[in-house]
Amino acid sequence: MRNFILGIVATLLVIVLGGLAIANLGLMPTNADATPPKIERRIAASALDASMERHAPRVTSPIPPTDENLIDGMKVYTMNCAVCHGTLDNKPSVLEKSLYPPVPQLILDPLDDPEWHTYYAIRTGVRYTGMPAWSKALSDPDIWKVTAFLSRIQKLPPKVQDYWKNAYGVGPPQEGAEKGEGHAHD
Ligand code: HEC
Repeated sequence: MRNFILGIVATLLVIVLGGLAIANLGLMPTNADATPPKIERRIAASALDASMERHAPRVTSPIPPTDENLIDGMKVYTMNCAVCHGTLDNKPSVLEKSLYPPVPQLILDPLDDPEWHTYYAIRTGVRYTGMPAWSKALSDPDIWKVTAFLSRIQKLPPKVQDYWKNAYGVGPPQEGAEKGEGHAHD
């Protein structure tokens, strides 16, 4: 029994030291211009989802989705997020594939998560990715407004769609237009 336990401890030690050695010998790739393998994407995406499910409070937005608030959310998006997540002229961001993991294109491939989930993702960011924690940069009402906007890309009220068209030359992308065409968001 004693040897068995010693065996397990020794094996674990070898794994940990091996991992540290691999890291410190510079054997781990750090370039951000690679495409993550499918299995890595899958594991990382479900780990992220599970963590958000566990940590994110089930809060309801205090901000009603009025035309004005949605337009404000659109402005917050253009100023802070479009550079990575795609501009409102419906083009993918030039940085889409320059970050590791690649940036989900939230206009071309809109989110279908509940608002509490999106709000939490925006507020707290995602570790070891390019996604900043916006709680340190935006006010809480602004985070809710951009959440409201991103949750309604394909069902915006007519006035908000008109504002979008006037400002960017094209309106919101039509339902299904880009879905599944190789954008990073799963
Ligand atoms: C510097 C680039 C960058 C900027 C700027 C940025 N993000 Fe992100 N964002 C990312 C990356 C990269 C991810 C993907 C993280 C991952 O795969 O785990 C992400 C993920 C997200 C997600 C989660 C998407 C999902 O699939 O669940 C949301 C929501 C989001 N960002 C919203 C925003 C909002 C809103 C802003 C502006 C206030 C913003 N981001 C600004 C890079 C950025």
